[in-house]
Amino acid sequence: MHLEGLTLSFAVCILYQRQELFRTRTHLKSKIITQGRNGTVEPRFASRMGILRASDIREILKVTQNPEIISFAGGLPAPELFPASAIAERAAEVLASQGTVALQYSPTEGFFALRQIIAERMNTIWHTQLMPEEILVTTGSQQGLDLTGKLFLDEGDVVLCESPTYLGAIMAFNVFKPHWVEVATDDEGMEPEALEDALRTHERIKLIYTVPNFQNPTGRTWSDQRRERLVQLAAKYEVPVIEDNPYGEVCFEGTLPRAIQAMDSRGLVICLGTFSKIFCPGLRLGWVAANRRYLDKYVILKQAGDLHTSTVDQMIAASYMKTHDLENDIQHKRDVYRKRRDAMLSALEAEMPRGVSFTRPKGGLFLWVELPTSLDARQLLIRSLEQHVAFVPGEAFFPTSGRKNTLRLNYSNMPEARIIEGVRRLAVAVRKELEVGRPAQAPVSV
Ligand SMILES: Cc1ncc(COP(=O)(O)O)c(C=O)c1O
Repeated sequence: MHLEGLTLSFAVCILYQRQELFRTRTHLKSKIITQGRNGTVEPRFASRMGILRASDIREILKVTQNPEIISFAGGLPAPELFPASAIAERAAEVLASQGTVALQYSPTEGFFALRQIIAERMNTIWHTQLMPEEILVTTGSQQGLDLTGKLFLDEGDVVLCESPTYLGAIMAFNVFKPHWVEVATDDEGMEPEALEDALRTHERIKLIYTVPNFQNPTGRTWSDQRRERLVQLAAKYEVPVIEDNPYGEVCFEGTLPRAIQAMDSRGLVICLGTFSKIFCPGLRLGWVAANRRYLDKYVILKQAGDLHTSTVDQMIAASYMKTHDLENDIQHKRDVYRKRRDAMLSALEAEMPRGVSFTRPKGGLFLWVELPTSLDARQLLIRSLEQHVAFVPGEAFFPTSGRKNTLRLNYSNMPEARIIEGVRRLAVAVRKELEVGRPAQAPVSV
């Protein structure tokens, strides 16, 4: 199959078609158009819908459902590590012993026993000093981001973020039409001079958003000095900091990084946490940990949004954590992911041509690749899909100024042998792209 010269979406569509899912999609699409022709009134959506676009990434992820594709694209934890049978037992026990409570509406703030567990774990692991009353259970930390946007952002308000940053935060906040300012970021976090410069020069700054540990997408982790400086600057300019921390506990090397929230004496740091990467994402359990002056407002917004997170899921999770050793499960995940990261790093070192560089994360699920500046990762994706390998082009992770020669690779979702094979094929695609980009040789005169 030759996909060269096609647009990314079109190329992805061709692969999608091969999975026969395309037929259903076309059928649905034509049905909608026919209804329109029959005189249905065009829907009049809110103006914000004008700027919101479905991302290419969703199309890429559909392609990756094909088992032939080696996918480095998603951010999926390893499903074989989910404690499915233990959760089934806990679910049966919760329903048998407390079914009437588990299936009932419950407080917006969350199931108290789970809030206690979250506060205790955070205080033990991250050295915070949280009361259970300072925890709001959310439907994944993605809901924490959505509520954060609703709480702080009016159109045109400024969000400072790392460059690049988490795509899901860009999408969640963009609903509120903010003005993004990307702060120059290196391997230690946001550069303090650039951060202070942004704080000094921009008006209407509402948030500093950061993923300080094993960041999605780069795998980078902030140094302690940078964290301290961030807390000082946030206090000086009185700007709240969103510390989005899904990966901190997925740490392979050395000691755990320090929590920014634990360094803050002003109550300006709002932490978003989640069980998605340390337990299982399908339960959709996350939390906001914050000073009551913020938390009480988050509660009002959550009440308006979905009343509360699933009672039964919260009770199952709390029951699991009381009867099983979650820390042991996490250690196992670290061991498995460390080996997968090592496999990916060695394969990249062995296979990639000169001029390709990549991060070496000490935890988390992702690493970040920089190609020679002549290459465009979206074109490379088209070529690598020919080799049945998927990844996410890096451009999407920059809210203002995409760098086209970057890409994100995930290593958590696949055994080492497939990772090695996938990187080998990706390197073939990179070499071919370099060949195409090379200026034609001058004809040799005879
Ligand atoms: C940085 C970051 N924040 C938040 C989330 C959302 O996670 P969840 O809603 O599963 O808790 C993710 C998911 O990958 C993430 O990478």
